[in-house]
Amino acid sequence: MGSVRGLGKLVRPAAWTLNQRRDITSWLAQWFPKTPAKPVVALKTPIKVELVAGKTYRWCVCGRSKKQPFCDGSHFFKRTGLSPLKFKAQETRMVALCTCKATQKPPYCDGTHKSEQVQKAELGSPL
Ligand code: FES
Repeated sequence: MGSVRGLGKLVRPAAWTLNQRRDITSWLAQWFPKTPAKPVVALKTPIKVELVAGKTYRWCVCGRSKKQPFCDGSHFFKRTGLSPLKFKAQETRMVALCTCKATQKPPYCDGTHKSEQVQKAELGSPL
């Protein structure tokens, strides 16, 4: 009988207390925030790239990537709660991809970067 009690302690060590569960919850909230951060202006002009038909791309939504206009994982490491926009090119062609993150037609530039709001914004700050 004594060994069964001992087994219970092995399965659920005393270290797994209510306080530790709270620690895990706060850790999760830190890495996966419920309210996502706002995208920031990476650049104020679009970047022209050639998309290859059938290839999948991940467009940076958060504006924090150093590989604009594509994702480099910064959204995760900077704990934004945002995710890149994954899309598949239907045809091989040159396109202008948004870097101001204010476009209404993501991932493509729609000219919103010409607006006064974007042009007056500081790089790396939200609109
Ligand atoms: S770069 Fe964002 S709309 Fe043109």
